Amino acid sequence: MNLIDGKATAAEIKREIAEEVAQIKAGGGKTPHLAAVLVGHDGGSETYVANKVRSCEEVGFHSTLIRYEEDVTEEELLACVERLNNDPDIDGFIVQLPLPKHIREERITEAIDYRKDVDGFHPVNVGRMSLGLPCFLSATPAGIVELLRRYHIETRGKHCVVLGRSNIVGKPVSMLMMQKGIPGDCTVTVCHSRTKDIKEICLQADIIIAALGVPEFLRGDMVKEGAVVIDVGTTRVPSDKTKSGFKLTGDVAFDEVAPKCSWITPVPGGVGPMTIVSLMRNTLLAGRKAIYA
Ligand code: GUN
Repeated sequence: MNLIDGKATAAEIKREIAEEVAQIKAGGGKTPHLAAVLVGHDGGSETYVANKVRSCEEVGFHSTLIRYEEDVTEEELLACVERLNNDPDIDGFIVQLPLPKHIREERITEAIDYRKDVDGFHPVNVGRMSLGLPCFLSATPAGIVELLRRYHIETRGKHCVVLGRSNIVGKPVSMLMMQKGIPGDCTVTVCHSRTKDIKEICLQADIIIAALGVPEFLRGDMVKEGAVVIDVGTTRVPSDKTKSGFKLTGDVAFDEVAPKCSWITPVPGGVGPMTIVSLMRNTLLAGRKAIYA
């Protein structure tokens, strides 16, 4: 079993980005600027947004955090999106999900200028990704593909089973894995909560990407010898062993599954850190107007 070290890979990519930012600044160019909008005080979202903002500063970006209380109206949030769309200093921005129930997430996502949509959630970016055109790739799928690329993991002709069909991970990563090229060229099966015989399907997989959000869903008897397993789960499970009072738990029962794998990502320290650097990469691309003029 070999461990895919997302933490080390993310640190390496951060150094690459920081170097590029330094060159831009040395040449008199504009410092990339990311804004993050956070609604309410959900513990997970607070942590993710704080990490995103801190990481951006580490690589030399400017960052702005805009906060709203839980009772913000849809119209207020749309007005904020509009301001950010029109602010020439902001290269890209994200609205952290999930949003409170009274706000329609798709209205917010669609209101974001796709040229500043560094989350890659806007229908234009999702559509362009599906067509294999230049776009902002959503951060977690991009991070997964980058890990496979940097570890030279063979994907061509492999059977990739994706567990989960979310708009943020399952759908886009299944699209990327089937796309022509490296990594890609997989035969992809997408399983979800209504799939029959998940165990039998997983046993046929060369690569499993687990993104259901069900802690330790993938057990040892569901994985064939030599499989590659990518764990996208990050459920916060209460724990009395940590200072924060919870522990991040993946979708993979690591102790059972790892001995059977050729490669596996841990939680934490696997896909999570890669998600953040993918967002930074998108912000850099937005600042350089590398995808959209
Ligand atoms: N919530 C969970 N993951 C993400 C993400 O990648 N971007 C945003 N905006 N919200 C999220």
